[in-house]
Amino acid sequence: MFPDGFLWGGATAANQIEGAYNEGGKGLSIQDVMPHGVTTPPTDAPTPDNLKLDAIDFYHRYAEDIALFAEMGFKVFRFSVAWSRIFPRGDEEQPNEEGLRFYERILDELEKHGIEPLVTISHYETPLHLAREYGGWTNRALIGFYERYARVLFERFAGRVKYWLTFNEINSVLHFPFMSGGIPGNPSTQELYQAVHHELVASARVVRCGHEIDPDNKIGCMILAVPRYPLSPTPDDARAAQRAAQSDYAFGDIHCRGYYPGYLLRHLKERGVDLDITEQDRNDLMHVVDFVSFSYYMSACETADPNKRVAGEGNLIGGVPNPTLDASEWGWQIDPVGLRIIMNDYWDRWQKPLFIVENGLGARDELIDGFVDDDYRISYLNDHLVQVGEAIADGVDTLGYTTWGCIDLVSASTAQLSKRYGFIYVDRDDNGEGTLARYKKKSFDWYKNVIATNGASLET
Ligand code: BG6
Repeated sequence: MFPDGFLWGGATAANQIEGAYNEGGKGLSIQDVMPHGVTTPPTDAPTPDNLKLDAIDFYHRYAEDIALFAEMGFKVFRFSVAWSRIFPRGDEEQPNEEGLRFYERILDELEKHGIEPLVTISHYETPLHLAREYGGWTNRALIGFYERYARVLFERFAGRVKYWLTFNEINSVLHFPFMSGGIPGNPSTQELYQAVHHELVASARVVRCGHEIDPDNKIGCMILAVPRYPLSPTPDDARAAQRAAQSDYAFGDIHCRGYYPGYLLRHLKERGVDLDITEQDRNDLMHVVDFVSFSYYMSACETADPNKRVAGEGNLIGGVPNPTLDASEWGWQIDPVGLRIIMNDYWDRWQKPLFIVENGLGARDELIDGFVDDDYRISYLNDHLVQVGEAIADGVDTLGYTTWGCIDLVSASTAQLSKRYGFIYVDRDDNGEGTLARYKKKSFDWYKNVIATNGASLET
């Protein structure tokens, strides 16, 4: 079912695991002033109750953690580089050597265990200075700063890293402008789409630069994938679902085709958005990605009937709840078949290999005698992986699968540690109390077996 060489593994992001927010010459990032995730506005300065400031201390414990990943048999480990470790303010000419050395040590450790790195260049981690002084990605200057940063990574890690992602969940900037794009306040539609444009151009320029430095580099985009279903069989609801899907497709269309799709141009025109797009931008956009990666947690319904929309309801990025699906404790609706649907959809649309780089269940765990009996997590992952197998059988070219938060980490949306995704339990609570000791959950051995059998142990 799963092809030979399928890349099984786990995924993380720097700001959610590293901690050491002010060590090694690191500058502040936007995450350091977001004590409560995206649920409340940012503060002016780091606050002591921000769990991300020291997170799960991966900065000091990476060797122990990577050894546990190796014990599970990981073929790949997705992590992100904290931009502000390399360029503390973001606009310097020269990188911070100590930051680069930290990631070299991670690569050493991965190589020791034969684990392929998958590096996200920017994961919700804009240097704070770029947000405060430049307005984040609304400012064209960020294209150059980001390209300089990515070039440093490509040059420094040439031959050691093959798989790269430019921006985590690039479409999420439309939903979380500060976390995703470092954009302060409430940007107008014009500002938001100009920021989107800058990120898209930056992504394409970095694809070009990465290929120039090492033609073996495989560089992908990363999309927050949410299949949209019509709430009812009416054509109007089907169209509402299509329109919502297009707001995500647009990012993949541009990354894979190299130009803006007609439906997006119309959408912008109808909203009076007049983008600053230069001739150079158009040429840059033609540098398309090698593969498409995405996160998948949930599907959503859409309707054209405003009376059926309830304020505050729906999933992470809106939509209407699906009456046929259950949800996690955080209201994310669980839909394994949606993963097969989105994989077929993306493959048919773009004909680029896919990489599922995030999927998992955020749940509360109970540590009893050093063990967590997390059958709910096993069942969630099993059911999603069965659907990945189905999509592969449908002919979808799939590079690999990395579960989100393979070790417990700090939640991006709520900044909690009690929203756990890992195979490895980390002893720390939402108040920052705990020893930070690591414990294997039941799912640890389960995943180890899935990897060892290349998926044959999954229960259909
Ligand atoms: C994705 C992000 O949206 O979802 C991750 O790329 C995030 O950074 C993950 O952690 C799960 O979301 P949350 O809010 O449960 O941490």
